[in-house]
Amino acid sequence: MLEAKNLHKSFGSHHVLKGVSLEVKPGEIQVLIGLNGSGKTTLQRILTGILEPDEGKVSIGGKDVTSSLPEDRLLGYVPQNTGLFRHLTVRDNILYSLKNGRGSEESFREAVELLDLESYLDWRPTQLSGGYKSRVALARALASSPRAMLLDEPISEVDRAKKEYVLPLFRQILLQLHIPVLYITHDPWEAGEIGTSYSIMRNGVVEGIASPEEAFSVIRQQARDSGE
Ligand SMILES: Nc1ncnc2c1ncn2[C@@H]1O[C@H](COP(=O)(O)OP(=O)(O)OP(=O)(O)O)[C@@H](O)[C@H]1O
Ligand SMILES: [Mg+2]
Repeated sequence: MLEAKNLHKSFGSHHVLKGVSLEVKPGEIQVLIGLNGSGKTTLQRILTGILEPDEGKVSIGGKDVTSSLPEDRLLGYVPQNTGLFRHLTVRDNILYSLKNGRGSEESFREAVELLDLESYLDWRPTQLSGGYKSRVALARALASSPRAMLLDEPISEVDRAKKEYVLPLFRQILLQLHIPVLYITHDPWEAGEIGTSYSIMRNGVVEGIASPEEAFSVIRQQARDSGE
């Protein structure tokens, strides 16, 4: 279980997270939806340990990790811009966490095979399409044998036709892992394709919601109210 309790975060006088609590169970793909600037990435960065909360608690598998370093949390993270190292080949990007003592040769092989990356191992990220960059970013996160997975708009660069192909693959892989998955997207259709549960970030808190349609009608209203 991935758990956050009462997280607060401000940047200067801007109070972004105002008591965020959430729970993601193993085998659950929770999709988090919210307007631009609502704090989704900030929340994920706190869960990974890249950012420190001002207040609140993060736990993984029942263990409090609030003060743990990112590398000790054993999470897989696909950041908003894929976060691939441009100067490294696809192989070395995927092997990155192995060099830092996580994952194994076997988890590397498995990730490469699952995402069909064998013929791209010597390429560099700049030579790849958006869809393949996302695959490499997911493979890199998978190769670290994570205890939970955080994905921040991992296929936002991919066009709709390709998403139709990539999403079932990603969903199948993520479900097979049977770990907690928190997946951020703006796209209602994508949310429905990948998620097993849904939540929205608004007014600095996260609320569970029954369907992506419900989340989007709330958000549409909020965007209208704020004049966007
Ligand atoms: N390091 C930082 N310093 C100052 N302000 C920040 C910092 N990081 C985020 N913010 C602010 O916090 C708010 C939330 O940003 P965040 O990136 O978490 O939003 P988001 O929901 O991920 O948005 P998007 O959908 O555009 O990715 C924004 O107003 C942003 O400007
Ligand atoms: Mg973001």
